[in-house]
Amino acid sequence: MNAAIRAVVRASIYHGIEAIGIRNGYKGMIAGDFIPLKSVDVGNIIQRGGTILGTARSKEFTTEEGRNKAYNQLQKAEIDACVVIGGDGSFAGANIFCQEYNIPFVGLPGTIDNDLFGTDFTIGYDTALNTVVEAVDRIRDTASAHGRLFFIEVMGRGAGFIALHSGIATGAEAILIPEVENQEKGLYNYLNGKGKKPSNIILVAEGNNLGGAYEIAQRVKDDFKEYDVRVNVLGHMQRGGSPSAFDRFLASRLGVAAVEALIDNQRSIMIGFANHDIAHVPFNKTIKRHHDLNRILLEVADILT
Ligand code: F6P
Repeated sequence: MNAAIRAVVRASIYHGIEAIGIRNGYKGMIAGDFIPLKSVDVGNIIQRGGTILGTARSKEFTTEEGRNKAYNQLQKAEIDACVVIGGDGSFAGANIFCQEYNIPFVGLPGTIDNDLFGTDFTIGYDTALNTVVEAVDRIRDTASAHGRLFFIEVMGRGAGFIALHSGIATGAEAILIPEVENQEKGLYNYLNGKGKKPSNIILVAEGNNLGGAYEIAQRVKDDFKEYDVRVNVLGHMQRGGSPSAFDRFLASRLGVAAVEALIDNQRSIMIGFANHDIAHVPFNKTIKRHHDLNRILLEVADILT
């Protein structure tokens, strides 16, 4: 997100536009928590995780009254347009606001889940993926040394991108994701057959259909006494740390494109990156539809394990 903030600020200044940061998302917008940002203010942040502006969930912005307060604050500060970094919740709020008030918003896709329709990649996803790959590689050392079966739970809410892609990248023996039903039989077949080997890593997406990693591991422990089972929940470590080169590049390109879209009088769109190019996706579409997994990758994962 910092790389995106930097890109928006610097692209604005380049085009002769003043940039103002809004602290803590819509909550800060309602409170008028604004801070002018000069080029120097966004120096030395491209390599830092998180966001210098902070972020917050805001129930108040989901109400008409809350959005009206936000509008008054924007008017008072003479803010003519906004760039929102977030997921479909943030874009849904921006979309309603743009219907009610004449202040254009454009969105930048910011979530580690990679689940937003209209973009091949979201800002933060690649970094999270690399963090998971590093963690799984480390866990694999113990798994191999002790001959253990590990269940490693990764984030992704309702989406299996992190689990599937990191599973392929680490050679995980099985991958449990929300997009696939009835994975228990396949897992049990595997554990009854090919699984009887020195080390096994099962990647568990948090939203999968069999339950959390601890729950699944307990069932497997009960049903397969021969396995030495361990669990690791990677949790919020996936959401921090210095961003990957790809994420910095993505955020930089999208941030510049967001400012250019506003200059072109566009509004209510997410700036995505699809087929190696900038994509303009109406909020309506990205809110209503879901970024589907490439099903071929399920086959790839199967073939390779
Ligand atoms: O949507 C991003 C995400 O990191 C999900 O992968 C995860 O389920 C959720 O946010 C965690 O949210 P919180 O930090 O509020 O617990």
